[in-house]
Amino acid sequence: MRVIVEKSADEVSRRGAKFIASLVRRKPDCVLGLATGGSPLGVYAELIRMHREEDLDFSRVTTFNLDEYVGLGPTHNQSYRYFMQSNLFDHINIEPKRTHVPDGRALDFEAHCRQYEQRIADAGGIELQLLGIGTDGHIAFNEPGSSLGSRTRLKTLAGETIRDNARFFGSEEQVPRLAITMGVGTILESRQCLLIAMGDHKAAAIRSTVEGPVTAQVTASALQLHRDVIIGLDEAAGGWLERREYYAEVERANELLESGQLRALGIGNQ
Ligand code: PGA
Repeated sequence: MRVIVEKSADEVSRRGAKFIASLVRRKPDCVLGLATGGSPLGVYAELIRMHREEDLDFSRVTTFNLDEYVGLGPTHNQSYRYFMQSNLFDHINIEPKRTHVPDGRALDFEAHCRQYEQRIADAGGIELQLLGIGTDGHIAFNEPGSSLGSRTRLKTLAGETIRDNARFFGSEEQVPRLAITMGVGTILESRQCLLIAMGDHKAAAIRSTVEGPVTAQVTASALQLHRDVIIGLDEAAGGWLERREYYAEVERANELLESGQLRALGIGNQ
């Protein structure tokens, strides 16, 4: 796991967007896994800016979102399809047919989830999956106790998630109780994962994710088993990490390596 702690939430967003943009430029027909919630908003705003001002081209990009509330259609202003349209898709040149969000109104859940997995496979798998994290340590809606091998399926939201998300709905009663979500196993199959978190309310979940044991009680901790994960944090979200100085040291070494300053790393001095 590569842990990068930035000075501010804005810097986390800018760096995250830069990372995604460089993949899109390198591989214009890439498959991106996308997330909703407060965390990715700044990333999407920056991607929109890059599309407008720097010709970032999404015309051949395919996307798969992590999850959707059961019962909410695309025009409901709290559905994740609506979120994606208003915060990203409507502002860039992506082909609507290449954007995928689970259908909250699907009645045959099992068939729909199977089909969603199949579509990901048919697209060649997800190249880069963007993730947020819940205060209960979930990724997507994989609540504590979710199998670490789980696939896209129906999931009951945890009380903590309902409380956290009530801010978007006005009250806890209005938050749907069920969601369709990619499984932990589905997420682990993405070739690269970028998890971002901002704010001190995420600090405990981040500590468990990065430095705790791998456990279904904190589904984000399963990312420790993935070979290519970047965790982008602001100072507040990274505030409980014990090995922060080491992560910063790794980043300094990476920067020196990338810029070819080998002598500063003691290489070639003998
Ligand atoms: P947030 O949600 O980005 O709105 O904090 C993240 C999550 O619950 O996965």
